[in-house]
Amino acid sequence: MAPSLPFDHVTIAVFGASGDLAKKMTYPAIYSLVANGMLDVNKLHVVGTARSSYEGSEFQDKIKKGLKEKKDAKASISDFISRCSYVSLKGYEDTESYSKLDAAIRKLEPEGKKSLRLFYIALPPSAFEDVSGNIKKKCWPEGQTNRLIVEKPYGKDEASAKKLSKHLESLFSEDELYRIDHYLGKDTVKTILPLRFGGNPHLSSTWSREHVSAVTINFKEEFGAEGRGGYFDEFGMIRDVMQNHLMQWIVLLGMEPPKSLSADDIHEAKLKFISDCKPIVPEDVLVAQYEASKSDKEKKAYKDDETVKNDSKAATFATAVMYVNNERWRGVPFVIRAGKALDETRAEVTLHYKTPAKALFPTATPSTFTVRDHPEKSHTLTLSTKQVGEGFSIVSAPLVVDFDHASPSASVKASYVPSAYETLIFEAITGDHTWFIPRAEAEAGWRVWDKAISGTENRTPFAYEYGGQGPKEEKEFLKQRAHDVH
Ligand code: NDP
Ligand code: BG6
Repeated sequence: MAPSLPFDHVTIAVFGASGDLAKKMTYPAIYSLVANGMLDVNKLHVVGTARSSYEGSEFQDKIKKGLKEKKDAKASISDFISRCSYVSLKGYEDTESYSKLDAAIRKLEPEGKKSLRLFYIALPPSAFEDVSGNIKKKCWPEGQTNRLIVEKPYGKDEASAKKLSKHLESLFSEDELYRIDHYLGKDTVKTILPLRFGGNPHLSSTWSREHVSAVTINFKEEFGAEGRGGYFDEFGMIRDVMQNHLMQWIVLLGMEPPKSLSADDIHEAKLKFISDCKPIVPEDVLVAQYEASKSDKEKKAYKDDETVKNDSKAATFATAVMYVNNERWRGVPFVIRAGKALDETRAEVTLHYKTPAKALFPTATPSTFTVRDHPEKSHTLTLSTKQVGEGFSIVSAPLVVDFDHASPSASVKASYVPSAYETLIFEAITGDHTWFIPRAEAEAGWRVWDKAISGTENRTPFAYEYGGQGPKEEKEFLKQRAHDVH
């Protein structure tokens, strides 16, 4: 049975329903909530909207392709699709289109019942202000609960983030706003808290500059930005994932223990850490863009995509080195690395431990501790140990917890494992802000990245091949800045 919600009916209105996020994440997440019994399909409608127009069942067919039938599902894909509709807008600034949308939603809401409208803006940030303004004007009925989910990036820099905040503040209360970063819906990101502040003194007591020589965040994708130029080309890799997703991971990894697990205390600890981060300087940033693969004709250069400008300098790969000015982390480089169109898909954070000053075994590889989200969800601690057998060879051996393959009896995996988007959409429906981003944090995050972005966005990026390991210049760049990374 679906958990009881304080609403008789929920309408989720997805702006940007024609786009990549909606197809890959938003609709599959909503269906999964329904299939797993978290939302009752008979009390739900999903209204997609964007400027694209679709004939007949074209939109539903497109959405269907992104959904996977689930065993023992509480509702079938066809049941779900029958609750999905689409409204085409003339333009995001066209107020009349929003009246049309409001009328369409109104028709779906049962009269005299308690309804929730959840608006999800899955659009490039340049559209956030028009869209939110028009939603408030035309689609935000008095006397019922309405909420708005705003995607990242939150603005383009600190000034535009503040401007966006002012605009949103003039329309909505902070309680009605949900600034989403789906990395905060990931178990592998949130797990940093129990790892550090649970019963692991061997980790928590070594989690500082005394023992750690560097922290690395490595984000790699095998695919490029194909078809997403309308959004990506204006924003680039730093704004797309580093300033938000990867930064959230670092914040949980680096912050001091919150006073409690309440939303306010977690938000306070996060904000304090962000204010301790030194602004990243352009000299500590390397940017690159992918060129066509030499062996696979399908893997075209970034600039060959028809949605991208011919002279684009957008970075599809970047490495940045950040420092934190506090007692715990002073002097430790945080190496943040993200790239599209590389040789593999991977997302992980690693603590690199120092070699002890008086090592009896100077050839031993210092220990590392890694939390990984892709390709599998795992924790790995590498230990220096003696090779089993003759002699005294020192080897590095991994201790691994692999959540993807752990059996339920290992008690590390629940029977229902929601995706990050499922978790967060459900939390927005229940009104829990803990893993969303408060205004102050959304603005402060840019202070760390503004110089890094403005100082590199007009640079000619280095080149790397689609399917390769990134630009060859990165090796020297890292050698000069974080030589301890092993
Ligand atoms: P898309 O490029 O697919 O854009 C989504 C939709 O927005 C398009 O279908 C198009 O709809 C409309 N659109 C595109 N360009 C513009 C423009 N310049 N001005 C106004 N509308 C435009 O982007 P994504 O779906 O990938 O991303 C949307 C948002 O979601 C971004 O903020 C991104 O950061 C965030 N996001 C994306 C993820 C992903 O994996 N794709 C994951 C996490 C967050 P139409 O033309 O029909 O109006
Ligand atoms: C999105 C970015 O926010 O995150 C995409 O816009 C990126 O470019 C995606 O592919 C990565 O998310 P995940 O969960 O696959 O690591």
